[in-house]
Amino acid sequence: MTSRNLQVLLARRPEGRLHESHFALREAPLPVLAPGEVLVRTRYLSIDAANRVWLFPVASYRPPVEVGAVMDGITLCEVVESRDADYRPGELVKCDAGWQAYAALPAHRLRRVERRTPITHALSALGPTGRTAYFGVLEIGRVKAGETFLVSAAAGAVGSLAGQIAKLHGCRVVGVAGTDEKCRWLKEELGFDAAINYRAEDLPSALTRHCPGGVDVYFDNVGGRVLQAVVYRMAPHGRIVCCGEVSVYDTDAPLRGPLGIPGILTIRRVRMEGFLVRDHEARRPEADAALGRWLDEGKLKVREDVLEGLESAPRALVGLLRGENIGKRLVSVAG
Ligand SMILES: NC(=O)c1ccc[n+]([C@@H]2O[C@H](COP(=O)([O-])OP(=O)(O)OC[C@H]3O[C@@H](n4cnc5c(N)ncnc54)[C@H](OP(=O)(O)O)[C@@H]3O)[C@@H](O)[C@H]2O)c1
Repeated sequence: MTSRNLQVLLARRPEGRLHESHFALREAPLPVLAPGEVLVRTRYLSIDAANRVWLFPVASYRPPVEVGAVMDGITLCEVVESRDADYRPGELVKCDAGWQAYAALPAHRLRRVERRTPITHALSALGPTGRTAYFGVLEIGRVKAGETFLVSAAAGAVGSLAGQIAKLHGCRVVGVAGTDEKCRWLKEELGFDAAINYRAEDLPSALTRHCPGGVDVYFDNVGGRVLQAVVYRMAPHGRIVCCGEVSVYDTDAPLRGPLGIPGILTIRRVRMEGFLVRDHEARRPEADAALGRWLDEGKLKVREDVLEGLESAPRALVGLLRGENIGKRLVSVAG
């Protein structure tokens, strides 16, 4: 084992678009364990759209990352050394070790992970990504067979799983994504009924064409102009699942809205509801069991988009916010 720890720090707080230069690499000594702590080595780092929200100067649903601190991040790690009776070297754990090769964490911040193949599923379908899709579609969207289900950032980590879960429940599924390659993948590989390239097509007319009876459930990952267009195409008694608003995360000129609320919601009796996956923690075993079963039965396809090396983490996040990724973006730190 090395005596040095590679870390990625937040060097400057971004205003407007994020660049790799907002981060800096540093080598630090390996942490020394206190009683009750566990030394973990990062195998994979989860790159999430929400990472950009954690860089805002004010608290969101968690405190902001401080300038000069190690960047926060969800990780899949291996126990290297333990001063806690519950953990042994070699065990696989999920934790928020952040963007660094090693971390010393109190045992209560670790969650043991069953070794499946590939182990990365613990950060994609069997991680917060999978559960966000699961609870968003079933608990907030309450999809019913025969309904039209629309999802944005559809070729991303959460969106690609949300669309497949709605399909498994008998919906007609339409995806909105940013390239023709993504739209092809959604239709040909994931079985979506239609896909709209919002960067190339006129979104309002494409929605009318692909959702002629209106949208029963809109799983919104992006907000902004996509939400603005969809709001007016909601079917009576439709549901808008507010999962995230990635179109405003990385800009200094966010488009807030949409216009027409609450009027159109009232007239069409539409329910618009936000949620955080952590609200559903008590039902984690149910979600993990269902997602694991669908994976084992080949009913859920997972695509992982893996970049190599901790030093590629800033590029991985900047690229995700530009729409580079297909599926779940990860960084292999010590894969
Ligand atoms: N509520 C919760 O508890 C919870 C938990 C996890 C994630 N989330 C939310 O889920 C959403 C997806 O997150 P993720 O981590 O899975 O990321 P992701 O979907 O894998 O990647 C983000 C995608 O957003 C799209 N995008 C970027 N800028 C856009 C814009 N201006 N307009 C429309 N689309 C844009 C890009 O695809 P295109 O090529 O299609 O543009 C990009 O690939 C985010 O809103 C996130 O905050 C919520």
